[in-house]
Amino acid sequence: MLKGTFPIEKFKSLETPFYYYDMDLLQKTLDAIKDETGKYGCFHVHYAVKANANPRILSLIASNGLGADCVSGGEIQAALKAGFPADKIVFAGVGKADWEINLGLEENIFCFNVESLAELRVINELAGRKNMKADVALRINPEVDAHTHAKITTGMKENKFGINLGLLGGVLDELAGMQHVRLIGIHCHIGSQITDMSAFRNLAIRINEIQDELDKRGFHVENLNMGGGLGIDYYHPNHLPIPSFDNYFAVFSSLLKLREGQQVHFEPGRSVVAQCGTLISRVLYVKEGEVKKFVILDAGFTDLIRPAMYDAYHRIENLSSDEDVELYDVVGPICESSDVFGKDVELNKAHRGDFIALRSAGAYGEIMASQYNCRKLPKAYYSDQI
Ligand code: LLP
Repeated sequence: MLKGTFPIEKFKSLETPFYYYDMDLLQKTLDAIKDETGKYGCFHVHYAVKANANPRILSLIASNGLGADCVSGGEIQAALKAGFPADKIVFAGVGKADWEINLGLEENIFCFNVESLAELRVINELAGRKNMKADVALRINPEVDAHTHAKITTGMKENKFGINLGLLGGVLDELAGMQHVRLIGIHCHIGSQITDMSAFRNLAIRINEIQDELDKRGFHVENLNMGGGLGIDYYHPNHLPIPSFDNYFAVFSSLLKLREGQQVHFEPGRSVVAQCGTLISRVLYVKEGEVKKFVILDAGFTDLIRPAMYDAYHRIENLSSDEDVELYDVVGPICESSDVFGKDVELNKAHRGDFIALRSAGAYGEIMASQYNCRKLPKAYYSDQI
């Protein structure tokens, strides 16, 4: 069974569970993004901070020149602290509080991605009080099916996110009369963990249609934001550690009908950080049931909630054993039956104390951790500092 390479000797003195980040892989992933976007000149990447806001991860991403996609005032503060320039920060979210909008205005961020007419009115009012003009992009529901998990698909109709296509005309009419907002772009995000490029093709085609509509109404926008959503290979983290950014960006380059001087923005989160992170835990007990064997870990859904919340698959490896493979249900210690990382998982024969790696945990792992059951938040260690 091909496993990832980890410095197990160094792990031995560490308290488990913990997150382990391969900083070299993160740098290589960022290099791939820079190489691919560099081919097109007008493509800009804003890393979706929601995927992982660990300060070291954020600063490495910022130092590579990417912008940040934030969904809260806290994320804007974290991004600024990590060194992302304010003029590369976009701010999305259906429920921006007044203080968060004011923070965005005071920091002079690049753009507010506006999700409703009600929000647009408030931004106009708050910017007016400061005698400012806020740069906004309208987040539109493109009605493109992302063919992904129901809990992470966002671009269809009757979703809490974005402005429905049918309502766009009315929003544009009212926006034209607002004194304190300036329309600089349109924004779409259709969902997350998308591995079928046809969803992105459909998005690009829909954006072209929306632009034609904007042209008819006399609106010209300088920026098109395609959101995030590029998926990763959870099944083969060892073979495919870097997502195919080449195919992804090529879809938009070949299909989008850009107007003179237009810039294209992207907000990838998962594809940037997922594969560089691993949740490392120890086996507490191997429990033999009547029909099943359970590996009980010291990590639980408090440390990686994706399997419990989205039935997500994460590859599980026993780093300490090369014995024959057996089938186990791999579970955590939390007092809830959903605290299961995988059922009938093929694992090299497990023993108390073995290191178990839960792979591809860099995105929506550490950032979604909780202290349920009064558990401690795990620490993070980095390949270049361990
Ligand atoms: N832009 C917007 C407006 C978003 O809502 C999201 C993710 C992204 C960008 C980044 O998407 P990504 O490139 O990471 O797919 N916790 C879930 C994923 C939630 C995604 C929410 N929005 C999970 O663990 O699968």
